[in-house]
Amino acid sequence: MFSLLLSSLALLDLAAAAPSCGVAAAAKPPAFFLAGDSTTAINGGWGDGLLATLIEPATGLNVGKSGATTRSFVAGGYWKNVTDHVREYAGDHDVYVTISFGHNDQKENSGVSFDQYQTNLINLANEIKGLGGKPLLVSSLTRRVFQGNTVVDSLHDQRLAAIEAARRTKSPVIDLNAASIKYVNAIGKAAAYEYNWGADKKDTTHLNEWGTVVFGRMVADLIIDALPSLESYITPNQTMSDRIANGQPA
Ligand SMILES: *[C@@H]1O[C@H](CO)[C@@H](O)[C@H](O)[C@H]1NC(C)=O
Ligand SMILES: *[C@@H]1O[C@H](CO)[C@@H](O)[C@H](O)[C@H]1NC(C)=O
Repeated sequence: MFSLLLSSLALLDLAAAAPSCGVAAAAKPPAFFLAGDSTTAINGGWGDGLLATLIEPATGLNVGKSGATTRSFVAGGYWKNVTDHVREYAGDHDVYVTISFGHNDQKENSGVSFDQYQTNLINLANEIKGLGGKPLLVSSLTRRVFQGNTVVDSLHDQRLAAIEAARRTKSPVIDLNAASIKYVNAIGKAAAYEYNWGADKKDTTHLNEWGTVVFGRMVADLIIDALPSLESYITPNQTMSDRIANGQPA
């Protein structure tokens, strides 16, 4: 009995040590902590759509906060929530922190200048690295405001700041702004409005339940593009991924 147990343990050990074929699984399961504004948050953001794709033991938490800027997110204690979780999970998970702001920072009265916004993104990313986590700079989800047939590129500079913060901190950039602009331009205004928040579907910034699923999938696909080893932790929906990639309504 004892030796049987030992030998099956040895077998398990071998199996664990054997090189896997195809897409190699990451060494530790990932944990995702989502820092951001309402376009990430529960009820209106893509965050829960991303988290819903995760396969255990991968895990995550949406800490997105409606109305947040890179400054108020820290001042309000939400960033501490994120960093506390990074510390807690870093031992047995590969910890990823998505950082996605801009919609509120860019407002005239936000108290955050453009330069400060970019500096804040860099500081947030560096702090996560210092804690042993991996920051993912996610450029801002586009608003679905159209001029004629083309969506207004209202977060252009905020996108560039996210890309620059990723470059300076040697972190992956998840270019959600570019991907979401391309997608809503391809499907057109009427289809893009199907993802709008609110009973009247007039809120062109926030996502309804289905929009959360679709743009959560978009983020998941972008994460897999940047970090292919994470693919085994994300439930596929090839039909939806193909529709997004092909610019068809999902
Ligand atoms: C962290 O954020 C999550 C989700 O936003 C919340 O459920 C939890 O209570 C927060 N924890 C702390 C310690 O603030
Ligand atoms: C997968 O994607 C298709 C196309 O968007 C959708 O109809 C279906 O509901 C999705 N399945 C799940 C489980 O989300």
